[in-house]
Amino acid sequence: MRLISDPAEMRKIAAQLLADGALGFVPTMGALHRGHMSLVTASRARDRHTVASIFVNPKQFGPTEDFGRYPRQFDADSALLADVGVEALFTPAIEAMYPAGFSTKVSVEGLNSKLCGASRPGHFDGVTTVVAKLFNIVQPTRAYFGQKDAAQVAVLRRLARDLNFDIELVICPIVRDPDGLALSSRNAYLTREQRHAALSLSRALNQARADIEAGERDAERLRRKVIDTLSANIDLRPDYVEVVDADNLLARKTVEPNTLIALAAFVDGTRLIDNLLVDAAFRVLM
Ligand code: PAF
Repeated sequence: MRLISDPAEMRKIAAQLLADGALGFVPTMGALHRGHMSLVTASRARDRHTVASIFVNPKQFGPTEDFGRYPRQFDADSALLADVGVEALFTPAIEAMYPAGFSTKVSVEGLNSKLCGASRPGHFDGVTTVVAKLFNIVQPTRAYFGQKDAAQVAVLRRLARDLNFDIELVICPIVRDPDGLALSSRNAYLTREQRHAALSLSRALNQARADIEAGERDAERLRRKVIDTLSANIDLRPDYVEVVDADNLLARKTVEPNTLIALAAFVDGTRLIDNLLVDAAFRVLM
């Protein structure tokens, strides 16, 4: 696996790979877990070549957020990626992505202030700015993202459409531990007790899934019940619970195909997210 830190070199290598067949791209911030690896596996199954990136993007963290302590485990990550056949790993320095004088911001207006964007102002602008740059550098055939970041998925789909990126976005299912906890690099912050408390997130969504499968269609009733389950856990502080259209992130009154129930909650200082999606065939995916 080639390690590349220079954007111009990455662009050159990616173009060479693309000339030989479809190029898959898995952008990450590192601290890789089975969720990230499922994106790589999906690309390896579909694309002739796979490139990944690791860049802890300062622009998507607020001033009081965890940029400084975000887990960084470069050697372990690059060994994992090399093992599964990633051909090039792009790991730019902050100064290479945001050189002195950098002054451009890519904003998906409207969507950028919904769900996580409401409680993390500026977060999605940071994501769309860096993803637009990464897309321009790598110019892949397909880019792979996880459904766990459902609001990010909506924002990035709109970005790709609005800016005519000729890149297919492939969204892969949430990967969970056997007890239901959705995998996240931030799970590394949790003590054993906090991890136990965090199980309320998937428990609340599982209850919502059972209710929907039993015929419940009232969005507010479902939302209240999820909030009640989260609030019953004194070790948890709900941030938001929303029932929305998965594409435009606007609130829905009833559950229909393409309805997303998304939530965020704090376990002590750690903010976790999770969601379920009612797909076009009315299957409840989580
Ligand atoms: O989902 C992530 O890990 C990040 O938001 C991304 C897409 C790599 C942009 O920094």
